[in-house]
Amino acid sequence: MRTAELVEIDEHRLLRRLDDLAQRGALPGGGIYRALYTPSWTSAMELVTSWLKEGQLFPRRDAVGNVWGRIEGSRGGRVIVTGSHIDTVRGGGALDGALGVVAGVEAVTSLWENHGRPTRILECVAICEEEGSRFSTNFWGARAIADRLEPGEAERARDGDGTTLADAMRAVGLDPANVASAVRRDIDAFVELHIEQGPVLDENGPRLGVVTTIAGTTHLEVTLRGQADHAGAMAMTRRKDALVGASAMAVEIADLATRMGDPAVATVGTIAVEPAQVNVVPGLARFTIDARHPENGRRTELITQIGDACKRIARERGLDVEMRTLRDRPPVTLSPRIADVLRRACAAAGVEPRDLASGAGHDAQMLSYAASTGMLFVPSIGGRSHCADEATLAEDVVLGTRALATALRELAYQP
Ligand code: GLV
Ligand code: MN
Ligand code: MN
Repeated sequence: MRTAELVEIDEHRLLRRLDDLAQRGALPGGGIYRALYTPSWTSAMELVTSWLKEGQLFPRRDAVGNVWGRIEGSRGGRVIVTGSHIDTVRGGGALDGALGVVAGVEAVTSLWENHGRPTRILECVAICEEEGSRFSTNFWGARAIADRLEPGEAERARDGDGTTLADAMRAVGLDPANVASAVRRDIDAFVELHIEQGPVLDENGPRLGVVTTIAGTTHLEVTLRGQADHAGAMAMTRRKDALVGASAMAVEIADLATRMGDPAVATVGTIAVEPAQVNVVPGLARFTIDARHPENGRRTELITQIGDACKRIARERGLDVEMRTLRDRPPVTLSPRIADVLRRACAAAGVEPRDLASGAGHDAQMLSYAASTGMLFVPSIGGRSHCADEATLAEDVVLGTRALATALRELAYQP
């Protein structure tokens, strides 16, 4: 096949919109926080809706709050979709999710403006939630589309203040009884542009990567019960300090993943103690573990090793340990067909892309249960992400968006 032409986009509009979106949920001390169904989230979704209106893409909000834009195809058939998530982690950056949303709107708008009506229906989507930052759940938007929500989940999932996801939905005018109507069974292909969030492309090149697999992730919650005592009067040798036990576990968990070797990763990301007083030995510690590996067998092995180590350390320190699996998402292989489309788009940009396994989770991994799915990565400067310093060169943002638009052109404008 001859090399396709790299599709033009409006790069000033793209970069300006990325900046505008970064203002929604910007924190005074730096970084961004757009949590599901909060005012900053609503404000971001309103901004995306205004772009869709401007581009004559007929914005539609679905039952969980994903916002869609659409161009009807001259021949109909199954739909081609691009997009990513609008929510962020607490203190996150301006690109994780946002890039795929803004680039998706830009690619579809530019195709509509410059190439007219596609043969296939072409849609872009701002997915309501991926990160799991507010509620005890994640991939809420993509799982709603892919029919992977559990019955009653909206009533069970709560945020840190005890608000249920269902009540938060009602507060923004959504009906939790209606979530099933967000399911889409008519999507042929989903393509997501995202920042790499690691250092491979930035340090080794090239400027574009095609994702072949997404790592499986397990989230565990560990509760340690020891004994609360007086911080001045109880001898060190007689203590059952739950935080000291949790600390020993956190070090061992990191060491286990390091010994297993790249790309195994394990992170203790949250910890809380009770009674949490300066002069009391912590009687209870509760922490979370995020463990990942792109090979399912290795991921299971890592989880087993972590469980065994926590039990051993608890025994050695006279603590009771309870481990609970919060969620378990297996690794996902993305579509080789869409990967080839993306490689051809990269070739149009004069780039021979690198194949990458993603350690980060993505909406694409859930949408791969409902459609042929592909992902394109652009470099993250210094590999930094999930922090305020997350950044990508403007020229790479533009290049990635043009490659995305080129891939969508091949998918949606076939004669
Ligand atoms: C989301 O970014 C995740 O990988 O957890
Ligand atoms: Mn993301
Ligand atoms: Mn993220």
